[in-house]
Parts: sequence; structure tokens; C-alpha cells
Amino acid sequence: MRVGLDFGTTNSSAAVYDGSRLTLLPLDPVSSSPSILRSTLFITREGAAYIGRAAINHFTEGNVGREVVYEWKYLGDAEMTFAELGTQQQALYVKVEVNAPGRLFRSLKTGLRDRSFRHTNVFGISYSLEELIAIVLRLIYERIEASIGQKVTGMVIGRPVHYAASREADALAFERMQAACRLAELPGVTFLDEPIGAALAYAREVRSAQHALVFDFGGGTLDVTIMRLDGRGRRQFIATDGVPVGGDLLDQRLVMGRLMPHFGEGATLGARRLPFPTHVLEHLSEWQTISDMTQPKYLEIIDEAVAIGDRTKELKALRSLVRQNYGLPMYEAVEQTKVQLSEADTAVLGMHMGEIDFDETVPRWDFERLIGPDVRAVSACIDRVLATAGMRPKDIDVVLRTGGSSRIPRFIKMLAEKFGTAKLQEMDVFTGVASGMAIAAYERA
Ligand SMILES: Nc1ncnc2c1ncn2[C@@H]1O[C@H](COP(=O)(O)OP(=O)(O)OP(=O)(O)O)[C@@H](O)[C@H]1O
Ligand SMILES: [Mg+2]
Repeated sequence: MRVGLDFGTTNSSAAVYDGSRLTLLPLDPVSSSPSILRSTLFITREGAAYIGRAAINHFTEGNVGREVVYEWKYLGDAEMTFAELGTQQQALYVKVEVNAPGRLFRSLKTGLRDRSFRHTNVFGISYSLEELIAIVLRLIYERIEASIGQKVTGMVIGRPVHYAASREADALAFERMQAACRLAELPGVTFLDEPIGAALAYAREVRSAQHALVFDFGGGTLDVTIMRLDGRGRRQFIATDGVPVGGDLLDQRLVMGRLMPHFGEGATLGARRLPFPTHVLEHLSEWQTISDMTQPKYLEIIDEAVAIGDRTKELKALRSLVRQNYGLPMYEAVEQTKVQLSEADTAVLGMHMGEIDFDETVPRWDFERLIGPDVRAVSACIDRVLATAGMRPKDIDVVLRTGGSSRIPRFIKMLAEKFGTAKLQEMDVFTGVASGMAIAAYERA
């Protein structure tokens, strides 16, 4: 049987289509919505792998709130040549974290476009990004087979229109994604642009001639396509475009725009009142880089700052964030605040754990101010796709919003201003792309 897979930055889904019935597959038995699997991976010290909700639960149980402890570890002897001393035997030591039970990865898909993300070390074993993604894909594939009760003979997997802003990074990302699929030994893989998938799912349900624009705004990218339906079942894709702007970036805007003062921004150190180095706080911009701060050199800077700085409460909060692994809960709280702001005019971003204790009230208008550059980038992308298609907003009959970030009022407003509220329609926000991939998998057979 052929299946469709949406491997998303934040969430993944899979579906099958038999020509009449579309079925979403349960990829995450632990989740309250089993057809939506969080695209997370947890690898234990022993090398066991977990995905989805189970990955987050394992990480939270074992790592969050746990003190990071480093010990010197003897690696072996090496021959070293010094100018003045000649060649000598030298013992090599590294500092390693001694009690971390595992490592968590999120948004691995975004890593594809990052040339510097080649390998990462998980308790002494080096994994390439492709290998990490392959582990996730393989586990998904096994769950698909278990749930359909037969062999998978082919897969159509979604890809963003552009993984990255530059052509070069985009090509690299796609090559790496293909390599990951090979490593996972997935059978008969072909790819399809994600917004085209969403458009196929929509086309199945309409009978009238029209032009539809798909606005698929997820965790990592915005993807758009314009499709012409002739009313007799024929579909034509006129233009597609995309930008690497998504919900993760919007979360970062909130962290950098609202949370830095709670973690020691603006603190001064010692009698000479030297500023607390901002490059340390820049690590807060992504949850992965927060764990970079567990390196001894940063821990020393932070400990020193707690000892001699003003804003002791905030610096202690930073120490706790880093030493007790509260980076993930912080990003989860930020994401929750962002989601709440899609419904409410204001939301409270609170953290009360370890030595972190604050409530930050975020009004929606301020979130909208922080994401201003992203709204402009998204708006420009829509204008571009219309220009490529040689169309004007009035030529579009329906605008389909899909992807979690398409629920953000500021983007709905932008679409309403361009196309008029009456044309906007929300479609299966988290599963539309997977459904379309399943339709394509069926049609390509
Ligand atoms: N109600 C909401 N308001 C605002 N943002 C939301 C809402 N619900 C989910 N999100 C955000 O949507 C994103 C996930 O959406 P989705 O599952 O469509 O992405 P994805 O398919 O995994 O990513 P991509 O397609 O970019 O690879 C996350 O950033 C999440 O925080
Ligand atoms: Mg998506």
C-alpha cells in the first residue's frame, strides 16, 4: 500500500487513500490526538530512541530540573609536538556531562538548511543530521506498517517549496532529506510540495471551477500555491512559493523581545559595573543553544555573574535555566503564550521552576510588533506568488489557511486585507498536507 507522509518541523502526520476513503494513521499512541505526532526525538545514553510525546515525556522526566554535572574524563594519551619542548606524551581529558539520561531534538527539519549542523555527539556517539532524521522516519514508517497491517510499497513525502532562502542551502537541504530517507530504507519515496498536498486535499471536496490559494504556515516555513480547478476534476498548479518563516521563529521573537530581562539582561558585574556579556544571553534565541550554555566555560561566566553581579534574582534564574535544563519548558511556555494570543488579547507567560519565578504579561499588540518583520516577509511572499501567476488578489476565489501558524490573527488580518474576509477558509490545520500526500501517493501508483 502507498502512503502519504507530512514530515513537519513541529508535527508529522501520515495518511492513506484508496480512491474514495481518506484515513489518517495513528502515529502517536501516547498523544491525545494520535494522528498528530510531534516531530521530536529523544536518544538515551544507551542509544534507545523515542519519538513524539514519549520523547518529550522521557526528556522531561529525566532531564528537566536535574542539575547538570560535569566531570573530567580521561580520553587517552596523545603525542603532541611543542616548539620548545619537542614531542611529548600528553594525557587528554575532556569534561563530559555525567548524569544526563538522554538528549532531545526538536525541529530537526530546520537543521536541514543549516550547513553548520553536520554532526552532533550523543554520549560519545556521533550522529549526522541525516541519521537523526532517519531514526525518526524509520520509527514513523514502522508505525505506519503496524497500523495499516500491510507492507508499505511507496511513499509520497511533503517538502517545503523552499527549505531555505538561498538556492544553494535549499538544494543542500533537499539532498540531505533524500539521504535521510535512504538511510531509513523507506520504499519508493517521491516528494511533493507541501502546499500542493493541501491543495489536493481541498480539490477532492469541491466541484466548482475556481482559483484557490493555499496558505500553509507551519513551524518552520510558509508555503503557498495557486491552483486552478476547472470544476470537472482537473487541477492545474499555476505558481508556488515559500519563505523560511514559521512558528519557531515567532517563538524566538517572543523570547528575545520579552524574556531577556528576566534572565539578567542589563545586569552589571563587580565594582567596575561591567555589563553582563550579551553574547551569553544570545543563546536563549533557540532552545538547542540554551543547552550549549551547559559547557563549563559558560557555566563559569554565569556563576561568576551570580556572585558579583547586580540583578541577582535574574542571574540566578539564568543559572537555573541552564543548569537545571529548563530551556524546553521555557520554549513550551512561550509557544503556549503565542497560541493563547491567537484567542485572547493578552496572555501571561509565567515560569515558576527552580530559581525562575516570573509572570510576564504579553499583550497581543506587542506580539504583533515583535513579529512585524515576519508579517512583511510573509506578505511579500504572497505578492510574489500572485505576480508569478500573473494574477491579482481579486482573481483568487478562495484562500485556504492551513498549518498551525495560519491561526495567528495578525496573518489572518493580512490575508483579509489582501483578499477580503469572505474568501478566507480554514482547512484541517494539522493534517491537510498529509491527506494530500496520500492522494498523490494513490494517484502516482
Ligand atoms: N492556535 C495557534 N496559534 C498560533 N500558532 C499556532 C497555533 N497552533 C499551532 N501553532 C503553531 O504552529 C506551528 C506548528 O504548525 P504545523 O504543525 O502546521 O507545522 P509543521 O507542519 O510541523 O511545520 P512545517 O510545515 O513548517 O514544516 C508551531 O509553531 C505552533 O506553535
Ligand atoms: Mg506543515
